[in-house]
Amino acid sequence: MAALEAAALFDDAALGERLAIEEDVRRQKAVFVKDLDDAVYSSLKNDAVRMGAYLRAIARAAPGKRVLDVGTGPEALLAVAAAKAGAEAVVACEVSPAAADRARAAVAAAGVAHVVTVVTGHSSEVAGTIVSVLGGPADVVVSEIVGDLASEEGMAATLAQLPATLVAKTGAWSVPARAETWVAPANLRLPASGDGGSSDVRLPMVPPPATLLGDRRLLECIDANDLRLEQTREHAWTVAAPSTLTGFFCAPKIVLDGEDAIDCWTEATSWRSVLCLLDEPVLVEAGDEVGLSATADLRRFPVVHALAATVNGKPAGTVVVKLPDS
Ligand SMILES: C[S@@+](CC[C@H](N)C(=O)[O-])C[C@H]1O[C@@H](n2cnc3c(N)ncnc32)[C@H](O)[C@@H]1O
Repeated sequence: MAALEAAALFDDAALGERLAIEEDVRRQKAVFVKDLDDAVYSSLKNDAVRMGAYLRAIARAAPGKRVLDVGTGPEALLAVAAAKAGAEAVVACEVSPAAADRARAAVAAAGVAHVVTVVTGHSSEVAGTIVSVLGGPADVVVSEIVGDLASEEGMAATLAQLPATLVAKTGAWSVPARAETWVAPANLRLPASGDGGSSDVRLPMVPPPATLLGDRRLLECIDANDLRLEQTREHAWTVAAPSTLTGFFCAPKIVLDGEDAIDCWTEATSWRSVLCLLDEPVLVEAGDEVGLSATADLRRFPVVHALAATVNGKPAGTVVVKLPDS
């Protein structure tokens, strides 16, 4: 009897989790389907740092392989690159029907329609189609669903939800291999965005070194071979000189493979740095300790990051950050 009750409970929990995932996918689709912004896509295409690193990594990973591009966008840039690098077959999967239609035209214009098939749908919902088009499981998955906070576009859950029938997640199966967000305490005053309690400001620049009160530390890591969907980290910095703690700068680093990485702390890219502003700035003296306790639930969409600050152990405010408009 006890075993039966336990089984029933387990089923309820599994059903609840499945329904929660479906709801997350629905919310993620709603964001991406409305978000067909030409200015954003042309900034991605014209980001020479991003494109150079991706093209080099794809040229190493794709030759002779079955490749899945998750979230190909309207120009199918990564899928076309994989085909040109000598992939055996490529599926370019795209959740936005309008972007998928444009991707089909881009693939034809690039002269690689015999290698690349565009499949419309969310990656979690079209696995069977992808495997049948590829003629077997994918060897390599390429994607660029990395937010200004790396996990906020749903990359971790998206990779975790790819079934084993679609890709065996071993070795160098994912480009990027890792996407990280790094964080440092900051002294920079700017008006908060004021979108319902969240107070993050997105800036088209690397975190300015002169505004930082300490070195950068790891806030989160999406490692394709070790996907952790709940992340908590604690950090502490000792302040070197009198200053004001206004919040924390965050920016991503995308490790494509063993040879190429895009470090948005040192190179200007299409990713923006995120200034997470405390409600009230706090004066700090040399020797004071700034603490940070950060949590993020990467299973859910939108991913919500909570950054709780302390100064000398006393609470200094919590900043909650999520993808704008999600
Ligand atoms: C940042 S854009 C990148 C486009 C292109 N891969 C590139 O690198 O230029 C991300 C794209 O992925 C799509 N997308 C995000 N998650 C997806 C998923 N799980 N399945 C299918 N498409 C997805 C979005 O609609 C969007 O077009």
